[in-house]
Amino acid sequence: MPSSLVFPPGFRFGTSTSAFQIEGATDADGRGVSIWDVFAAEPGRVLGGDSPAVGIDHYHRYAEDVALLAQLGVQDYRFSFAWPRILPTGRGTVEKRGLDFYDRLIDALLTAGINPVPTLYHWDLPLALQEAGGWMARETAEAFADYASLLGEHFADRVTDWLTLNEMSVHTLYGHGLSEHAPGLGLELAALPAAHYQLLAHGLAVQRLRAAGAQRIGVANQHFPVIPASDDDADLIAAHVFADLTNWTFADPILRGVYPSDEIAGGILQLTGVSPEQLAADLRVISEPLDVYGVNYYEPTRIGAPQADRDSSGVLEVDIPEGLPFAAVPIEGVERTDFGWSIVPSGLGDILRQLRERYPELPPIIITENGASFSDGPGADGRVRDERRIRFLDAHLRALSDEMAAGANVVGYYVWSILDNFEWAAGFSERFGLVHVDLDTLARTPKDSYYWYRDLIEAQNPARSV
Ligand code: BGC
Repeated sequence: MPSSLVFPPGFRFGTSTSAFQIEGATDADGRGVSIWDVFAAEPGRVLGGDSPAVGIDHYHRYAEDVALLAQLGVQDYRFSFAWPRILPTGRGTVEKRGLDFYDRLIDALLTAGINPVPTLYHWDLPLALQEAGGWMARETAEAFADYASLLGEHFADRVTDWLTLNEMSVHTLYGHGLSEHAPGLGLELAALPAAHYQLLAHGLAVQRLRAAGAQRIGVANQHFPVIPASDDDADLIAAHVFADLTNWTFADPILRGVYPSDEIAGGILQLTGVSPEQLAADLRVISEPLDVYGVNYYEPTRIGAPQADRDSSGVLEVDIPEGLPFAAVPIEGVERTDFGWSIVPSGLGDILRQLRERYPELPPIIITENGASFSDGPGADGRVRDERRIRFLDAHLRALSDEMAAGANVVGYYVWSILDNFEWAAGFSERFGLVHVDLDTLARTPKDSYYWYRDLIEAQNPARSV
């Protein structure tokens, strides 16, 4: 099924990964321990007890993986630096062998004609920083700023595009508010300081990266439309509060220099103990202008007021604990991925429209993640027929193209992910890759969706030789 989609000249196609999900080699070359190493080793945290220690061994197989990217023809490759590989305890002594790995990776990408787009942080906090308070402490934002300077000074001669943090909202909600992800704090609404200090880390990193000569800087935020369960006031309010806490708490400070409501700003003041003057100063740092804004989109969320008889199973990856002012409600009548996530391509258009309406000064957008888990493996002939992923990507790219025609300024689209990888609490049970990875042999086999995406990219500019 070739795609007839046409994107404007200069539009950038890519794929995304993150360090902890693909690198493995967790004790190689002086790498420090991260919160996810500890969390994944605790019984019951990761489905099937899957271990990321070897993972899919990208650390040793990066050259093969870069070759797969080159054959795919992507312009951009988004990956993340592992903070504990470079600064094993989060600050202080630099592990040169960690920097060497990213030198090798970046040089291989550049040689292959692929633009490297690193994210500085994708959830793998050095354990030593967690022990000193982690994202609940201001000092972690300051350590992150120094880490950003180090990376900027080392790589900005070759790397033009940078993303600061990945999905602060998910890290705050799942890792700090709930206990589904590392560090597993389960603080519920008292996790709000983790939002503020990640946002501050973002703003400080933008300043430091610019000072080091970085040319294009952005952030990768998860966004999704929040659909109220009904038109009842209680459901409308619950959906509004949930959207504020997930989408807008992480976008408003960056794009408007404010928190979305007095309640959230007040909660942050109270829980962090910062003064109103300090909060205002922090928000000025957090709202440093950006060159691009990254949007990760997977599915909408339907939210209503909590009700005892509401069945929220299988809606989010986790149940929202009782006592919080909202509950997840199933979206009816939609197809689902093998992860159970609802497939709603129009949601991508909806969220792009909401962003445009909310932020008059919105920078150009890159869809920094979009993709789906489907478990198809090789057939008897070795071919991976992942027709459902092709349909998913095609439908989302069509929704994107329509929204661009309606005025959305989107300059790139990255598929999550190039390779099947470690899907956090779901371990290796969920497969998001365009390339299948055999978990015993670690052999890589491009799926049908890989060839479909390659042809789509090639069709945008037939003259371009890969
Ligand atoms: C994260 C990825 C993750 C993907 C699929 C995003 O929330 O940035 O790390 O693998 O979604 O769950």
